[in-house]
Amino acid sequence: MNNNPDIEKAVRILNESENVAIPTETVYGLAGNIYSETAIRKIFKRKKRPYYNPLIVHLKSYSEVEKVAIEIPEKARVLAEAFWPGPLTLVLKKQKNISDLITAGKDTVAVRVPNHPLTLALLEQLDYPLAAPSANPFGSISPTTAAHVATYFDAKTLFVLDGGPCINGIESTIIGFDGESPILYRAGAIPIEAIENSVGKLSVFTKDDVAPIAPGMLSKHYAPTTPTILTSDMAKSLLDYSDKRVGVMSFCKRYQNPAIVHQEVLSSQGNLAEAANRLYAALHALDSQPIEVILVEKAPHTGIGIAINDKLQRASVL
Ligand code: TXA
Ligand code: MG
Repeated sequence: MNNNPDIEKAVRILNESENVAIPTETVYGLAGNIYSETAIRKIFKRKKRPYYNPLIVHLKSYSEVEKVAIEIPEKARVLAEAFWPGPLTLVLKKQKNISDLITAGKDTVAVRVPNHPLTLALLEQLDYPLAAPSANPFGSISPTTAAHVATYFDAKTLFVLDGGPCINGIESTIIGFDGESPILYRAGAIPIEAIENSVGKLSVFTKDDVAPIAPGMLSKHYAPTTPTILTSDMAKSLLDYSDKRVGVMSFCKRYQNPAIVHQEVLSSQGNLAEAANRLYAALHALDSQPIEVILVEKAPHTGIGIAINDKLQRASVL
């Protein structure tokens, strides 16, 4: 039924145990067949990702969840019903046939149904789900356009299924379970409040537990190559760095200062969803400028602002 030549090409490549970069509503993923050890190893190698970091499995629909997971908690069903397809990842007890490479030897597997028409159409054409971490080298800024992916990986060796800019622009929210109790593993595109509205209070996974369960929880991640400093007082930070060539990423205000070489305003209207959507593109743009330091301003700490600040914290050195 589907005769989009790009999807056909992606199917051919994936069927040969190769990787394809796929668009999702959050960020681009680096995808491979979950049942092909070769394809999965290539993902780790391309990303220079340590094997202790497990991958997310992307399904075409909720009806496939039992192929990869068992003993699904009732609250996981409620969340899947409410948010799939969409930017929510559930960490569930894994089926025996899910490889240890994907789960990093854990007895759990992370799964989600992505909400992007091209990737859903692609999954529809495949006999297997796709494992896909974000399509960036380990630790660097996540890609939200096909062009970002192409700056990281040679277009001759990696086919990018171009689905345009990602609508949400930050990664999925990750929820795991302790029995029936939901636990927040990673703040993301679905605000915590929205999740609590459907399943009640979340407990937050803290660093004192066995760490790091999720690399998005490593203290340095999503990082530009230019030194990046997170500030809650931009005017003061601009004074502190007045002898440097400065790049600024502000939430909604445009700052005037002779030290500023390049400035990215995430949302002049102060809209958090727009700010999340532009976050990584702004960091990519700043990181390509001839500047010595990037000053980033915290977003209001509510809704998706919590996920934005979490990413900013990890992108910065301090
Ligand atoms: O929005 C997203 O989730 C994107 C798109 C491509 O779907 N993917 C993504 O993948 O952000 P990645 O690999 O960059 O982050 C996946 C996160 C990691 O922090 C990983 O540790 C966590 O999911 N994860 C995977 N399996 C897990 C498991 N069994 N238990 C706990 N965390 C897990
Ligand atoms: Mg990532």
